[in-house]
Amino acid sequence: MGIEVTVEGLSKAFGPQTIWRDVTLTLPAGEVSVMLGPSGTGKTVFLKSLIGLLKPETGRVLVDGVDMVNDPDRKVFAMRKKFGLMFQDGAMFGSMNLYDNIAFPLREHTRKTEKEIRRIVLEQMDVVGLLGEERKLPGQISGGMRKRAGLARALVMDPEIILCDEPDSGLDPVRTAYISQLLIDVNARIDATMLIVTHNIEIASTVPDNIGMLFLRDLVAFGPREVLLTSEEPVVGQFLRGNRHGPIGMTEEKDAAKLEEEARAADTLGPVRPIHIPPQLRPSPGLPARAAEARHAAAVDAILPTLSHAAQHAIRENRAHLNQTGGLT
Ligand SMILES: Nc1ncnc2c1ncn2[C@@H]1O[C@H](COP(=O)(O)OP(=O)(O)O)[C@@H](O)[C@H]1O
Ligand SMILES: [Mg+2]
Repeated sequence: MGIEVTVEGLSKAFGPQTIWRDVTLTLPAGEVSVMLGPSGTGKTVFLKSLIGLLKPETGRVLVDGVDMVNDPDRKVFAMRKKFGLMFQDGAMFGSMNLYDNIAFPLREHTRKTEKEIRRIVLEQMDVVGLLGEERKLPGQISGGMRKRAGLARALVMDPEIILCDEPDSGLDPVRTAYISQLLIDVNARIDATMLIVTHNIEIASTVPDNIGMLFLRDLVAFGPREVLLTSEEPVVGQFLRGNRHGPIGMTEEKDAAKLEEEARAADTLGPVRPIHIPPQLRPSPGLPARAAEARHAAAVDAILPTLSHAAQHAIRENRAHLNQTGGLT
């Protein structure tokens, strides 16, 4: 069962360079969240701050009563064992085969016997579709396989929180779709709290329960997918729906003045597309429903009256579609 992660007033700088400031959000227990942001906005720095590998100057990250920023190392190290981290580049040891890479955290941090380790490693390699590839070296496999090996390694310690750094980077759309499905399936299997950072809008609109956006050193929004995908906030709408000038290239930051200018120009373009919430990925057949799904739906119901009529309508349509197709019972 996943644990909630609460981020309060977090700010990080390297010398004179502010990376982001005053980031406040809650990753709800067991839900999948995505943090969008162009390259260089500090997504990796954010993930490292959550597990206490980097120390922001101000703010707190609370996990089960432990503050990953300010508490003593001993407490932070103990809590870090509940996290699984999937690195952007896989972070595999090049001279070790996949089996040994995936077994590494178990050998390093537990006293399990080689027999137990073997059972766990092969189980997780099976989950990510790498069974039979145990002896390959990281340099002998494709980028997509390395990502999946990185995911298997993040899973062996039975994490309650999983952080994924750009699981799609360098992958083609087919492999990106495969890893997206894998992440939803992992969530259905183990109910972990998950945070995925990416600049892929397709992933943001189809995978997570919650979406956040880092832009120009600020968290411009964070909330349930139903709210973000129907948001009439110009920056959010531009990123997620391309309602006005089409999606902004997430790899290129535009400055605030340029954004404003575009928003003004777009206001004269006539009617915008009606708001529509794309369907969220479901666990593969044979897997249990995601435990967080009902909790998430209840949380959205609670705030429904505060949303615009168009947003409420889109959310009801999305629900009706889900019910028809066998989701959310
Ligand atoms: N250890 C560090 N020391 C100094 N600057 C850093 C360090 N790590 C990251 N940065 C800087 O922080 C910014 C955000 O980096 P990063 O989190 O890697 O962005 P993203 O993952 O969103 O592409 C970059 O400008 C990068 O140069
Ligand atoms: Mg990064």
